[in-house]
Order: sequence, then C-alpha cells, then structure tokens
Amino acid sequence: MDVLTHLFVGLHIIGIAALLGGFLTQMKAMGQGTARFVPGMLHGALTMLVTGMVLVGLVQSQDHDLNTVKIGIKLAVLIVILALVYVKRDEEKVDKGLFALVGGLTMANVFIAVLWT
Ligand code: HEM
Repeated sequence: MDVLTHLFVGLHIIGIAALLGGFLTQMKAMGQGTARFVPGMLHGALTMLVTGMVLVGLVQSQDHDLNTVKIGIKLAVLIVILALVYVKRDEEKVDKGLFALVGGLTMANVFIAVLWT
C-alpha cells in the first residue's frame, strides 16, 4: 500500500510539473500580453485533482493522519485554477493579470503543500 501511495505522490508531482511547467513556458508571452493556457496546464490541473483524491483515499485507508484543512485549501485553490484554465482554454490570448493569477495560485499551492507540515 505504501508503494501505491508513493506512486501516486509521484504522479501528483508529474501533474504539478505539467501545470507549472506550462505556465513557465508562457512567461515571456505573458509579459507581452500574448500568453495562453496551453493544454498541458489543463491536463496537469486535472492530474492534480485525480491523484490528490486518490491520495486522500489511500492515506485514510491506512489510518494515517491527514491534515484535512490543508487538503481542503489545496482543493479549493485547485478548483479556482481548473475553472479558469478550462473556461479560457480556447482563447488565444489571456489577460496578463489573469494568467499571472493562475501561476501565483499554483505556486501558492506548492508552498502550502511543502511548508504546512
Ligand atoms: C496545485 C495543487 C496541488 C499541489 C501543488 C500539491 C502538491 C503536493 C505535494 C508537493 C505533495 C507531496 C508533499 C506532501 O506530502 O505534502 C502533495 C501530497 C498530497 N496531496 Fe497535493 N497538491 C495539490 C492538490 C491537491 C489536491 C486537490 C488534493 C486532494 C483532493 C491533494 C491531496 C494530497 C494528498 C492526500 C497528499 C499526500 C500527502 C499527505 O498530505 O499526507 N493535493 N501534494
């Protein structure tokens, strides 16, 4: 079971790599106001959601302590990210402020995950 949990943490990290990586590839374009939400960002955000929910199940089935407040906040932030990326996925240019907001929320979730122990 531990191996399965670690496997899903690995997939969870691949999800964040796609979401944040997609954002980082658009940084230069964001400065010029021509950034767009690339497909990898949507797929990464969906991967985070699915693997996160599987992890909740795995961790709870092993009777390990789970910080539900932390998970709830990560989930709420991710839902905002997912909604924005999904709604704007076909737009060729996304407003600079909105694009930066998605990147900022993504990074906030990374630091919530690693600093809140
Ligand atoms: C962009 C959003 C997210 C980021 C950046 C993120 C990041 C991380 C990272 C870095 C870890 C490994 C470090 C740790 O154990 O805390 C982790 C673990 C975990 N994440 Fe996420 N996560 C996100 C969204 C979610 C969501 C939406 C859920 C639940 C629905 C979730 C549930 C979990 C669970 C259950 C673990 C296992 C570790 C534990 O807390 O016991 N994550 N996440």
